[in-house]
Amino acid sequence: MNINVDYDGLIPNNVGLDRDARVRNELERWHPGYIDWWRERGPEGFDHADVYLRTAVNVDQKGWATFDYVKMPDYKWGILLAPQIANRRIAFGAHKGEPVWQEVPEDYRALLRRLIVIQGDTEPATVEQQRHLGKTAPSLYDLRNLFQVNVEEARHLWAMVYLLQKYFGDEGRDDARDLLKRSAGDANNPRLLGAFNEATPDWLSFFMYTYFTDRDGKMQLEALAQSGFDPLSRTCRFMLTEEAYHMYVGEAGVARVIEKTCQVMSENGITDPADIDAVRAHGAIDLPTIQKKANLHFSLTLDLFGNEISANAAKAFNAGIKGRYREEKLQDDHQMNDGTYKVLRLVDGEIREEDVPALSALNMRLRDDYVADSQGGVQRWNKIIEKYGIAFRLTLPHVAFNRRIGEFAKVHTDREGRLLDDAAWERQRHAWLPDDADNVFIESLMQPELRPGRFASWISAPKTGIDNKPGDFEYVKIND
Ligand SMILES: [Fe+2]
Ligand SMILES: [Fe+2]
Repeated sequence: MNINVDYDGLIPNNVGLDRDARVRNELERWHPGYIDWWRERGPEGFDHADVYLRTAVNVDQKGWATFDYVKMPDYKWGILLAPQIANRRIAFGAHKGEPVWQEVPEDYRALLRRLIVIQGDTEPATVEQQRHLGKTAPSLYDLRNLFQVNVEEARHLWAMVYLLQKYFGDEGRDDARDLLKRSAGDANNPRLLGAFNEATPDWLSFFMYTYFTDRDGKMQLEALAQSGFDPLSRTCRFMLTEEAYHMYVGEAGVARVIEKTCQVMSENGITDPADIDAVRAHGAIDLPTIQKKANLHFSLTLDLFGNEISANAAKAFNAGIKGRYREEKLQDDHQMNDGTYKVLRLVDGEIREEDVPALSALNMRLRDDYVADSQGGVQRWNKIIEKYGIAFRLTLPHVAFNRRIGEFAKVHTDREGRLLDDAAWERQRHAWLPDDADNVFIESLMQPELRPGRFASWISAPKTGIDNKPGDFEYVKIND
């Protein structure tokens, strides 16, 4: 398998499109509608800007990215699969040990198509959710990072559209068309999953989103990378290399906000983290509000894992279509016909742990892995606060907090997972989730800072530049 990317045609690819006229024609027919979508629902107001972006030029370990100035509508969105693994076998489920499929297994066609459409739907949704952020960027560095995430999410849409058009015939072609029709937050034709219809109104939300919600993307892609349908596995493996950068943007972004807040507190002798007015007076975001934003984005993202107990997840695992996080490292029979898994459930008005058949608890298991994976960054954020000697620690709320899907959708709890009646929730929710006053304050900070090397009042400069560029590098040439 050629790992070098063919850059000659309209669509850079390492899937041999030059020898596959049918799929190439389909993709070329899809392309104008895609460009219309990008102009109408992608980053607003920067079509003429030259953006210092990385583009994948091959998919091997080193040097898969080159950097250059690009106008975003001219970005070379490509179809890039990780290299094929020789003699790969299905690692789990009823077909464990059989050679992986290079074509869609007829029995699982509908199941596979549905999973690809759902994954595909999330990718353009994130671009739509982030459409307005360019106008309030805290620096050219951050503006460039936003656009890098946007073009890569759009490439992930291409990745799923390729699978649909290559392997699912007329139905796949219709799915590809519909992926451009649904729209985040559109009351008549919304994106498929709730969290992808929420607004991303400000840059703290953007950083929380890329930390928490792109991490759901990572977990889903890790599970799909295990797939016995080899083209899906290879597609997801390459997407994961891009996903890691999105989560970095989120973690480092939040870290820089925290750094600035702590710096403002120490320079001005503010020792009480709860004295939010004092912190805000200096144009920084107080730590309790950062915690509230984390509570919101963490809880919204947990909903993406679906119901704790799920027959569909069991079906996809049995079929060899969607595995577990790091399936190959798990020490069991990879079939789970017996065995149990502990699930938090709502039983007789109490939150209790219950043993359920392991196969039925796959969503819960992936969510548990997600929660564990989310802790790392939170600990690193706390190190910054500790360094300044400030008595405050960020924590993740209980998984039952502020949920709309699954076991806890019908109840209210506090941040620690203690059940509350409606009145108690209404009284206290503003202590845990951003309220109008918090949002108005954050919005007031969202003034663009587009001079090279300068940063808005509420965020510190990064420690290193992109592609080792110096601090005053002009990452985006606006060209108005
Ligand atoms: Fe993505
Ligand atoms: Fe992402």
